Amino acid sequence: VTIDWASSVDLLVDLGTGTGRRAALERALRAAIRDGRLRPDDRLPSTRALAHDLGLARGTVAEAYAQLAAEGYLRTRPGAPTRVAAWARSPGARAHPRPREAASTTAGRRPRPPERPRPPRHDLRVGLPDVGAFPRGAWLGALRRALASAPDAALNARDVGGRPELRTALAAYLGRTRGVLADPERIVICSGFTQGLALLCRTLGGTLAMEDPCLAELREVARDAGVRVARLEVDESGARPELPAGATAALLTPAHQFPLGGTLAPERRAAFVAWARASGGVVIEDDYDGEFRYDRQPAGALQGLDPEHVVYGGTASKTLAPGLRLGWLVLPDRLLGPVLDAKHVTGGTQTLDQLALAELLRSGAYDRQVRRMRQRYRRRRDLLLELLAGRRTHGIAAGQQLVVEVDSEARTLQRAAERDLALEPLGRFWHAPEGRPQGLVLGYAAPPEHDYRATLAALADVLS
Ligand SMILES: Cc1ncc(COP(=O)(O)O)c(C=O)c1O
Repeated sequence: VTIDWASSVDLLVDLGTGTGRRAALERALRAAIRDGRLRPDDRLPSTRALAHDLGLARGTVAEAYAQLAAEGYLRTRPGAPTRVAAWARSPGARAHPRPREAASTTAGRRPRPPERPRPPRHDLRVGLPDVGAFPRGAWLGALRRALASAPDAALNARDVGGRPELRTALAAYLGRTRGVLADPERIVICSGFTQGLALLCRTLGGTLAMEDPCLAELREVARDAGVRVARLEVDESGARPELPAGATAALLTPAHQFPLGGTLAPERRAAFVAWARASGGVVIEDDYDGEFRYDRQPAGALQGLDPEHVVYGGTASKTLAPGLRLGWLVLPDRLLGPVLDAKHVTGGTQTLDQLALAELLRSGAYDRQVRRMRQRYRRRRDLLLELLAGRRTHGIAAGQQLVVEVDSEARTLQRAAERDLALEPLGRFWHAPEGRPQGLVLGYAAPPEHDYRATLAALADVLS
């Protein structure tokens, strides 16, 4: 549909034909803003007008606007038209010439420098640890030591499965802290768990059963890598071991279900492993935040039950920083070769950072960082729960996120945008959000430490 945008541009909005029209509209608007077809301060049509043009329910358009406002792309104010936020344009965006009449009104003015996306004032989105606590000094020291002793060969990109120094250090660490049965030879280092999942999907093909809800981005990665995605129902005891017919693999978050926060019950762990043995299927264990349990020892990795049928996946994204792009897979023997072949095509992972991480693990600095952050996140979670007293929340004392139910995600996001607080709606994570409980997934690790109380105050305002 081509819409004559009231301001000055025609905008092509392609919603496709499938379900998920709200998500498609959000994607189309984000793309238009990013590549400059919609520009800072451009006025968007009213929700009523756009809903009419696109044949959507007005509520769907309102929810899409609220989501983009929460992400910082749009600016909404009660009683005023919705506009593209002044900063909402990526630095690399293509310049898009304005139509002649519009350009003439700005003649004589100095051209404005390109606008950079401005981060929100407060941020409680998921997937973001407190990167202000990254151990810069320890990392620098580790990198210096690693580089001083690394063989020249470490600077080649031959070790497509990862540097032996890191695989050896990880095997010891994962065995000691997570009960993973890890032979260094069975470990493949990848660019985050995300790349590991893509490699597995390309290797396994078929149908991947994914928890509902789950991390939306991983669903997209799996589809993009060519597998069909099926649903696994989730409750407070984790995923139900009711595998859809034809499933060839199941992706689970056993230690701390993402995002609802349950832990996989022991009989369910056994049932998933029994399914994999009987069917020849594979369980993929996403242990994204297994180090962070606050009330007791975390449950050991599921992989320890049956390393020939469970792939273990881990990451440095929660313990150190997502920007490192370092993750790892511990693979059954039969999958090692095929996954390495897939990795070969994709390319290796930067070796110097691998060496630094190996050094951090060997020296004990990694353990110290995890212990320090465990205390910090536990305190943050306690403060957040105090604020949410009386509301319905979900999740064990673990990780970096918790879910609170709300009456309306759209209204809550709208209020949050007015307070310049970025929030994550639970709706994004369901395979299909219709008829599901509405909520927020609060990522309490994201704010810098000095701003945490102010962020909670903003949240209190939004929820009041
Ligand atoms: C559920 C889940 N799995 C995995 C990851 C880690 O992804 P990566 O290692 O690619 O950063 C995340 C990070 O946000 C996550 O939330």
